[in-house]
Amino acid sequence: MIGLFGYLLLFISAVQAVYSDEAFETDWQLQNIGEYQCVFENGDQKYLVALSELGNRTLISFINEFNGNLFYRQQLEFKAVDAMTTEHGAEFVLKDDHGFLRAFNGSTGFPIEKDLSNFSFNSHCKPNMSGFKVMNNSLQIIDPDSALVVFQVELWNSFEKVEYIRTDFAGNLKLLYSTVDSEYVFQSIEDGDVKSEWSRDEKTTDVVAHTVIDLPDSSLDAISQELLMEEDTASAWDAYKYRVSKNWQRFKLYLKKHNYSPGSIVNDMLKSDDDASNKKRDLIFGLAKYLVVATEKSRIIALNIKNGTAEWSLRSSLNDIVLLEWFPQSRELVAFGKDGTYEFYSLANLSSPALTRTGVLGKKNIKSISLLDGVKFLVTTHDALSSVVSLSPNDEPAPNTFICTHDESRIHGNVVSSNGQLKETWTIALEESEKLVGFAVREDHPVVTLGQTLGNRTVLYKYLYPNLACYAVFNSASGRLYVNLIDTVTGALFYTQYHDDRTNPDMPIDMVFGEHWFIYSYFSEEPIPEQKLVVVDLFESLQPNTRVSASSTELDPLKGVHRPQVLSKAYFFPEVIKHMRLSETKFGITIKSIVLELENGQITYLTRTLLNARREQEFKMSDDDKKEFMMVPYHSTLPINDHFMITHVRHLMWGPNSELISIPTNLESTSFVCDLGHDIFCARISPSGQFDVMSPTFERVKLIGTIVGLIVLCYFVKPSVEARKLKNSWMVRS
Ligand SMILES: *[C@@H]1O[C@H](CO)[C@@H](O)[C@H](O)[C@H]1NC(C)=O
Ligand SMILES: *[C@@H]1O[C@H](CO)[C@@H](O)[C@H](O)[C@H]1NC(C)=O
Ligand SMILES: *[C@@H]1O[C@H](CO)[C@@H](O)[C@H](O)[C@H]1NC(C)=O
Ligand SMILES: *[C@@H]1O[C@H](CO)[C@@H](O)[C@H](O)[C@H]1NC(C)=O
Ligand SMILES: *[C@@H]1O[C@H](CO)[C@@H](O)[C@H](O)[C@H]1NC(C)=O
Ligand SMILES: *[C@@H]1O[C@H](CO)[C@@H](O)[C@H](O)[C@H]1NC(C)=O
Ligand SMILES: *[C@@H]1O[C@H](CO)[C@@H](O)[C@H](O)[C@H]1NC(C)=O
Ligand SMILES: *[C@@H]1O[C@H](CO)[C@@H](O)[C@H](O)[C@H]1NC(C)=O
Repeated sequence: MIGLFGYLLLFISAVQAVYSDEAFETDWQLQNIGEYQCVFENGDQKYLVALSELGNRTLISFINEFNGNLFYRQQLEFKAVDAMTTEHGAEFVLKDDHGFLRAFNGSTGFPIEKDLSNFSFNSHCKPNMSGFKVMNNSLQIIDPDSALVVFQVELWNSFEKVEYIRTDFAGNLKLLYSTVDSEYVFQSIEDGDVKSEWSRDEKTTDVVAHTVIDLPDSSLDAISQELLMEEDTASAWDAYKYRVSKNWQRFKLYLKKHNYSPGSIVNDMLKSDDDASNKKRDLIFGLAKYLVVATEKSRIIALNIKNGTAEWSLRSSLNDIVLLEWFPQSRELVAFGKDGTYEFYSLANLSSPALTRTGVLGKKNIKSISLLDGVKFLVTTHDALSSVVSLSPNDEPAPNTFICTHDESRIHGNVVSSNGQLKETWTIALEESEKLVGFAVREDHPVVTLGQTLGNRTVLYKYLYPNLACYAVFNSASGRLYVNLIDTVTGALFYTQYHDDRTNPDMPIDMVFGEHWFIYSYFSEEPIPEQKLVVVDLFESLQPNTRVSASSTELDPLKGVHRPQVLSKAYFFPEVIKHMRLSETKFGITIKSIVLELENGQITYLTRTLLNARREQEFKMSDDDKKEFMMVPYHSTLPINDHFMITHVRHLMWGPNSELISIPTNLESTSFVCDLGHDIFCARISPSGQFDVMSPTFERVKLIGTIVGLIVLCYFVKPSVEARKLKNSWMVRS
């Protein structure tokens, strides 16, 4: 009875765990404005309005004067270069880079129709500093008539310049100034009293490169130290004595910590959510990481990936950082600039980076750099030349590696020969009217199963040849979008398909390649303007239970490879997709999901079971087909499900170079998804549910109670069972 009750309780708490909403607990966003180009107050004087740059247009932000929180941000359709407020801010007028004027309502920020042809424009962007004096980290307000100092306010040591100032020269002041660390400090003084004071950190605006540092688990250091000591001691007996004494000391310390109170010890065993155990759990689960980002303004900042707190930040002397890379063995961080200079930072102490050396790659005008292996980098310059550069002179020669590179009009196959030189092996040149609009290479990730089991227990074998890439080409002459699958070693074309539905080349197009499938998104104008998502599945054969490759033989791409058999399906999607990324997990067992960055400022994800080329309309499915694991009938539109909207109600600003990344953790079920651009956003997703984590609210007390109850029950029931057995064997009726 007790046991049953216990299980019931357990079941109820498990159900709660499934629905427990972690929104805003495990995800965070750094909402950035950027460099303030112009600041003024709005009509009701509750908000500061700041203009900043986003891409090549202007971002307008309303900041709450009282606490510095962002009230509202919007990207304007033009680039504003100047601003003016009228009648105490009831309206404001923006001037764009062509000298054209536009009027906006001061309290709502909505554009208003107004004839501005005879308007006399008068810039209000530069604060008028007559009457103010900055000295020795303080700002003096000087009365214009008497030229006496009315009062003064203290400034931060890092003060740079005043962005906005307004005073009545009699004890009221509103002041916003910037610091050399890209912070913006606001002070509001009313009748000599500080009414509000806050600062906004804009350091992390416009990320251009990133890397991830896994924090090491140092909890085992003491134990490994002891093991080394034991190895050093002469005899086994001494080592044994050493170990016993150490353990006894540890036990005594433990008892002392709990004041020799059994209650406190039991309490400690049951308790699991204090800071120390949370920290330890994060280390074991691989949730303790630093997300290191480099920004357009050459700052490098390490953010705690759990909550976005900046752990340290430094200003690099590089111009235009293109790559950040972390070497965990040597604990070094390297940053590369566009002009080929690089800097190494030692992170022996993870909380204080130290510049150790700088150097020059010998390449200029760099477009992209990526790490190949060891300390070898593939460098591509703007004139479309690629080369391999090693940072260590005695780097071990690696066996031949094939690399596929591409630019707008060509795809190149290259081989890195044993002396480290890059040699071109094949080229696919596009025609004059063609443009490469998408490219994805099959990444080498662990493969869990060779085939897909169908409802009638037959198997379709996946096409797992590793050297594959897909690319999309837009032909402006025919208006078609061609999608091709090639072998990256030989350049051979394996499969091609095209779309004749007037692809819009100005809308974003993206591709991702999973283990035996790839997905691409594009926007077509016919029959109606619509976002499309197309999935292409590759199989060894479409005939179940037919395998072409043999597991015992190794394929030689140069001698010819069997081609895949292909299924493809297209879906509509209700929102415009900017970027796609596959969720990465440690072992690849969790069903992959496709994370989508949408143009409307949100992020959502779709599981691969929905984006499947084998989905059929329901009437075409046999009973066996319906038995297949996670098989869903085909519907032409993939709906947006609110439960999969990982940004919730947030609205992100992407900026022109935003990047979506996925970072695996030690938990197979869980991966981090971050979007780095003008804003930074990170969240944790578990596409198949958190099957390897017990909910933190898991009720240990009840579980232990149930077990104790069962033992007690057994103790009392046992004698009566024995008695019955005895009676049965003597055939005595009870
Ligand atoms: C802004 O930049 C984009 C490309 O980054 C370009 O297509 C667009 O024409 C530019 N807009 C303006 C107003 O310069
Ligand atoms: C601005 O909008 C508010 C609210 O809609 C309205 O009350 C106010 O009259 C408008 N101001 C101007 C100058 O149009
Ligand atoms: C603007 O000024 C011109 C000449 O100064 C005048 O003819 C015109 O009527 C004015 N327009 C408006 C809308 O006031
Ligand atoms: C600044 O303000 C003073 C008076 O407060 C005024 O005399 C001066 O013309 C102003 N300067 C500018 C550039 O607007
Ligand atoms: C600034 O402060 C220092 C010490 O606080 C003082 O010695 C110095 O004279 C001050 N300078 C000015 C210009 O007031
Ligand atoms: C973020 O997490 C770290 C460690 O997990 C903690 O030290 C820090 O106080 C947290 N910051 C905030 C703002 O919660
Ligand atoms: C690491 O650096 C921080 C900040 O400089 C310092 O407080 C800390 O003591 C250092 N830790 C070690 C182990 O040196
Ligand atoms: C199993 O199902 C597949 C897909 O519906 C079908 O092609 C195949 O013929 C079936 N095999 C058998 C043995 O029924």
